Formats: sequence, structure tokens, C-alpha cells
Amino acid sequence: MSQTRYAGPIREAAVHPHALVEQGFATDEMLAAVLDRYPAELFDINLYDYDEAGQVSLRTGARGRLDGAELLAAIQQGRLWVNLREVETGWPELWAAAMAEFRAIARATPGLKAIRNAGQLILSSPRARVPYHFDAAGVVLFHMRGRKRVFVYPGDEAHLPEQSMELVVARQTTEELPYDLAFEADARVVDLEPGQALTWPIYAPHRVENLDRFCVSLSMDFQTWPTRFRNGALYTNAVARSRGGRPRPTDRMGPPELAARWAASLALKRMGALENRIAHLERDFEPAVDVPDGARALGA
Ligand SMILES: [Fe+2]
Repeated sequence: MSQTRYAGPIREAAVHPHALVEQGFATDEMLAAVLDRYPAELFDINLYDYDEAGQVSLRTGARGRLDGAELLAAIQQGRLWVNLREVETGWPELWAAAMAEFRAIARATPGLKAIRNAGQLILSSPRARVPYHFDAAGVVLFHMRGRKRVFVYPGDEAHLPEQSMELVVARQTTEELPYDLAFEADARVVDLEPGQALTWPIYAPHRVENLDRFCVSLSMDFQTWPTRFRNGALYTNAVARSRGGRPRPTDRMGPPELAARWAASLALKRMGALENRIAHLERDFEPAVDVPDGARALGA
């Protein structure tokens, strides 16, 4: 059974070996040095809380003033999820090694042709959990330190409504999708150890729980021509819906129609058809050592 209704080369979640750990990329010394020099504007720092129905609320952090070793300690002691974007520019040595690993996985996956790759280095606290979401791209999650439990769900309309995808692709909302505890019956569960990389069907919803240890992973996303066309079509549909239209779902469109809607999306984006509503998130806290959750409130 394929887990997604969008044709893609990855039929189901699969684990691949990788050699990034033995190359020394995940040691405390290395990470502290990287945190010291990484550009502040490329940090996302999140703190997630969940209620009993599994519904998430998000607080966002500023980079703050801690040095690399202190920030690392705050993550290791706290309840933080820290994302360093654009690893391809922020840490070129790790990126080169990861791209070599990606090429090996792509060679082993017939039909997988990436046209653009980007990476996020994720440092997360021992009990951090990432909420249910999807990525508008293919993903390879290179796990490097700690243990993570990844839950992958079917990419059908019930688990991944196209209207929600439109809002994410058009940056009208963050990546969270509507979530129901009943989805858990449909999850494929994979426990990841350092040295393992996980792939899943393109667009498949997923969430992550750390298993009681500080975790380090490189999340590499990639676009293919089909994902670029579909994302463009979803954007065009989002614009049409914002103007009262009722566009056809993209899963009923063939390649020519998807390509035409992608082309339309380029013009719509140039015109600024939809305002980016998540560009200026208010920051709630900054990381701190020896305080609850590793977070000190800002602007209190
Ligand atoms: Fe993701």
C-alpha cells in the first residue's frame, strides 16, 4: 500500500544507513562551535506544549545572547527545539558530507531526481516533540545523536486535507495540520538510532517524539519537478480560494494542468497575490541555562 495519493518514488517509510556520525559532526565541541558562529537570522527556536487531545500550542524564541556552549547546555537541559536553517551555507562541511549520503540514497531509489536540496540542523531537548505536520518537499532525516520515534501517516485527504496544504504552501499558516488522536491507529512508527536516515513518501504527514535523550538530526528536504509543479498548483489554488473560488483538488489534475498552475503561481507570487502571514512571528522567549524548559520569557 502506498501511503500517499501523490505519485512519488518513495512508496513507504524506509531506513538507510549513513556515516555522518563517525565523521564527528555531532559532538558537543563541534556543535558548540557551530552554534557560536551560526547566523542569528537562521535560527528557529520553538517550544511546544500539548493538551490531552494532542493539540499543540507553540511559543517561539529569539536567538538570545548565550554563547554556543551555553546554548547547547540550555537545549540539553530544557524542552527546546532549535532549527538551524540553510545548512548548505551555514555549515558547508556537513552539507557536502550529507549530499554524498543523499546521492547514495537517490541511486538506490529508482525515479528519485532532486532538482534542489536544502538542509536544517535540528538540535532538540530530551523530551521535545514535534507536532503533526507535512513538508512541501521530499525529506531525508539523517539522525546523528540521541533516539527519536517518528510517526508517519497516510497522505490521503483525511490525514492531509488539500485546503490545509494550500495554506501552508502559501505561507498563510505554519506547518501544522488538523490532528486527531484517532490518526494514531494509522501511524507507521519507526525508532531512529544515530547513523540511520529515514525517508517517507513525499508529503506524508508525520510527527516526532524524542526518546529521553538530547537529539541531533539533519533534516534534508528536496524538490523534484513533480513537487515543484504540485506546490505551485497548491499556491494557485490558495489564491483562487482566497478570492472566493472553488478550485479543483490537485490530486485530480494531470501533469499538464499541474505545470500550467505552477506557471500561474510564478506570476501570482511576483504580483504578491497573497501576503506572507508568518514572516513576522512575535518572539516569546530566549534560551537560558538553569531555568525551567531552558526558556526565559521576553518582554514580560
Ligand atoms: Fe517534517
